[in-house]
Formats: sequence, structure tokens, C-alpha cells
Amino acid sequence: MRFSHLCLLVWALQASATILQNGQVREDAYPGQAPEILVDDSWRAYGPDAPEISYKGRWDRQYVSCERLPGIKLGFTGSQLALRFGSQTSEGVLLAYRFGGLDWKFSNVTTNAIYQFAGPWTAGMNSTREKTFEMRVQLSGVYIASDGELTKALQYNKTVEIIGDSFASGQYATYEGLSAWAYSFAAGLGDVEYSITAYPGICLTDKSCYSNEARGMTHQWFYAADVGARAEATYGNNPQKWNFSAHPPADLVIIDLGTNDQRNNVSGSDFYDSYTALINSVHDTYPQAEIVLMSLWGKFFRYGDKYIQSPFYAPDLHRVFESFHDQPFVHYFGTKGILQHNDIDPQGHPTDVGHLKIASHLMQWTKLKLGWEFGATGAEVQHDTLYWNDQAGYR
Ligand SMILES: *[C@@H]1O[C@H](CO)[C@@H](O)[C@H](O)[C@H]1NC(C)=O
Ligand SMILES: *[C@@H]1O[C@H](CO)[C@@H](O)[C@H](O)[C@H]1NC(C)=O
Ligand SMILES: *[C@@H]1O[C@H](CO)[C@@H](O)[C@H](O)[C@H]1NC(C)=O
Ligand SMILES: *[C@@H]1O[C@H](CO)[C@@H](O)[C@H](O)[C@H]1NC(C)=O
Ligand SMILES: *[C@@H]1O[C@H](CO)[C@@H](O)[C@H](O)[C@H]1NC(C)=O
Repeated sequence: MRFSHLCLLVWALQASATILQNGQVREDAYPGQAPEILVDDSWRAYGPDAPEISYKGRWDRQYVSCERLPGIKLGFTGSQLALRFGSQTSEGVLLAYRFGGLDWKFSNVTTNAIYQFAGPWTAGMNSTREKTFEMRVQLSGVYIASDGELTKALQYNKTVEIIGDSFASGQYATYEGLSAWAYSFAAGLGDVEYSITAYPGICLTDKSCYSNEARGMTHQWFYAADVGARAEATYGNNPQKWNFSAHPPADLVIIDLGTNDQRNNVSGSDFYDSYTALINSVHDTYPQAEIVLMSLWGKFFRYGDKYIQSPFYAPDLHRVFESFHDQPFVHYFGTKGILQHNDIDPQGHPTDVGHLKIASHLMQWTKLKLGWEFGATGAEVQHDTLYWNDQAGYR
């Protein structure tokens, strides 16, 4: 049996990375390191193909995902849970995990090793019989102590898919994907399943925009593996198509693409054609889905004593939206005016605060325009944001 693997390269770097907040080192930035263990016959073993495991995001047939925030969700009984990571796991990759609605924890893992995520030390294990384990980042074999078993975790009935680039992936944000607007939006809604189909550097238009991105999203959306070098080395010119019928269709699809096209000089008319093609592909695949085009915030320039926002492809995106005017499933979410110049970090991506502003506005928009209710009951979404104000006195 093959076990699973992971190649979230940026997370691999971040695993040993220090988080700086205004020059101060964040202490205990990644709580929750799982111990590496050996399992014996007192554990029940399950393969990565166990039907109780729900995969979120795109995973290929070797149970590898190279997206920034793929996940698994499973249920189990008993109080002990361990996972094995396969040979393609990036060395030292950091993953985020949690039980039920408890806070996110972090652990780095290595190849061909088994880590125990739940044990008698884990809060909440004694209080409910069936627990939910959720991991955003990776997969593998699963082991449950022999007094328990694997179960399917509760699945929400509504599904959201976000199609995007490094912005939706949270590149350069504090906890990357876990700090991204895409995750904050979908997890913030509370009672939806979600997938984030996003790759840093990807263009909407089908072209290679940066060295690691062979194809654009109009092509890549149909495939299970990512556009990076690992997938190409593994599958060559026979990449695995994504089997849409094996997964629940999305009810809501948000598209945030085009910044890389702009940086790669894709013309407005090519951008228009690609956008129209992607909307048609999404609609053919998910005929019931509401599709939201997110406008591109673009750049901010200082002009005299003011800042001016210069969104990318604004007329082209309007033209795309107009061309679907008799098709009520296409919506437009305007981001102009939500971010200010200092919500963009020195690497050209939103700061954590910028991501939260986008997510919060989009949540409210989804409620007002589409009539979705907020279903969150208080489970942590943004991790470790208390540092903004944890003092009663300021002197
Ligand atoms: C994994 O985490 C442990 C504990 O936080 C740390 O000591 C170790 O250096 C990390 N390993 C890698 C490869 O990042
Ligand atoms: C759970 O129950 C066991 C057995 O009673 C106990 O040893 C353990 O400390 C409890 N764990 C927690 C986190 O309360
Ligand atoms: C999903 O819908 C089914 C059928 O209407 C219902 O039985 C189930 O409780 C719903 N699940 C959730 C999590 O709301
Ligand atoms: C896709 O998934 C469906 C539903 O699970 C299954 O019946 C079908 O055989 C799958 N197709 C491929 C090509 O794997
Ligand atoms: C885009 O066009 C500008 C202006 O002609 C040029 O300087 C830049 O190198 C081009 N960028 C790419 C990625 O082709």
C-alpha cells in the first residue's frame, strides 16, 4: 500500500521560520508538535483510500497535494490518532491540525514517519465519543488505537470553492493559507465545506507565467495535480484529471485571478477571453453554482499628498460581467476601496489585516446578496491574532 506525501514547499521553509511582529520574535508561534512514534498491533491501520477520510482541495492519485491549503477531515472514536507521511513529503513540512472546534495546532513532519496527533494529553478527547480531526495541509495512512475506529466526520451541505493565486493561498501572510482571505472567508461562514484551488504565480490565461507554473488556470482547473515541477516529474505528459463527479458540486465559486496575468503583460482581450472560458467551464461543471468574479485591487501609488488605487483589468472584468448579464448566476464582488496602501505588504501581497478585510467584506456580501447565513459558533478561524490588543493598560 502506498502512503501519502506532500510538497508544500513554502510551508516547509516556514516550519523553521521565525515570525516577527514589528521586529519582535513571536514566542511559541507553532504550538502542538506531535511526537513521532512507532505503531504496533494494538493500533488499527487504515490506508489513505479509506472512505471515512474526506479530502478537501485537490489531491492526486498518490494522495499528494501541492496546493497551499489542502486538507483532510475524518472522525474517530477512542482517544488516540496517528498519521503516517509518505516518501514524497517535503522534509520538515509544517501542517496545521485541530480537533472539532478547538484551536489550530501546528506540527512539522518528515517522510516515512508516523506521528501521534491525539493521545490522553489532548484536550476534549474524554468529553465526546466521536471526535472530528481536521488537518489543513496533508495526508497519509491513519492509525487509531484498538479501542477506537475511524468514522466519517459530519459533512456540511453547502460547498464553496475558491479559485485563485498567491492571494487566495496566503503567500507571505503570517500563517500562509491559514491567514489567507480565502480560508478566512470560507471557514468564517462556519457551516460549509470548502476547497481552495489556488497556486501562487498562476495566471488565469493558459500560459507559463513563472518558472514553477507550467499552465494557467483555464487548463489547470481540470487537473488533480498542481502545475509545479514535482507533478510534472511524477506524471509527465499524462497528468491526472480531477474527477469532479467523485466530489460534491460547489454551490458557490469565487474567482480571484488576473494579477499574475497583468504582471506578465497578458492583453485585456486575452484576459477577457480566458475569464469567459473559465466561467463557462465552472458553470458547465457546477450548473447550480453561483459564480463570483472578484475585482483585482491592483496597486497603490502615492501622488502628491494622496494615495491612488489602480485596479488591474477593471474595464475587461466589467466587460466579462456584462457579457453574462442575462445569466443571474454570475456576480461581481468589487474590492475597490476595501484595502488601503498599507494593507499591502512589502512583497506585494495583502497583510494579515488586508486578508481579513477582504474576507469580512466578502462574508457580508455573501449574506446580503446571496442570502447565506453565518453558521460559525465560535471555533477559531484566525490563529494567534490576540497580540493586537491584549493589554488593559497602555503605559
Ligand atoms: C520541527 O519542530 C521541532 C519542534 O518545534 C524543532 O525542534 C525542529 O527543528 C523542527 N524540524 C524541522 C525540520 O523544521
Ligand atoms: C482523559 O481520561 C484519562 C483516563 O481517565 C485521563 O488519564 C486523562 O488525563 C484525561 N485526559 C484529559 C486531557 O483530561
Ligand atoms: C444535510 O442535509 C441532510 C438532508 O437534508 C440532513 O439530513 C443533514 O442533517 C444535513 N447536514 C447538515 C450538517 O446540516
Ligand atoms: C469518477 O467518480 C465517479 C463517482 O465516484 C466514478 O463512478 C467514476 O468511475 C470516476 N471516474 C474516473 C475516471 O475515475
Ligand atoms: C511587460 O512589458 C513591459 C513594458 O513593455 C516590459 O518592461 C516587461 O519586461 C514585460 N514583462 C514581461 C514579464 O514580459
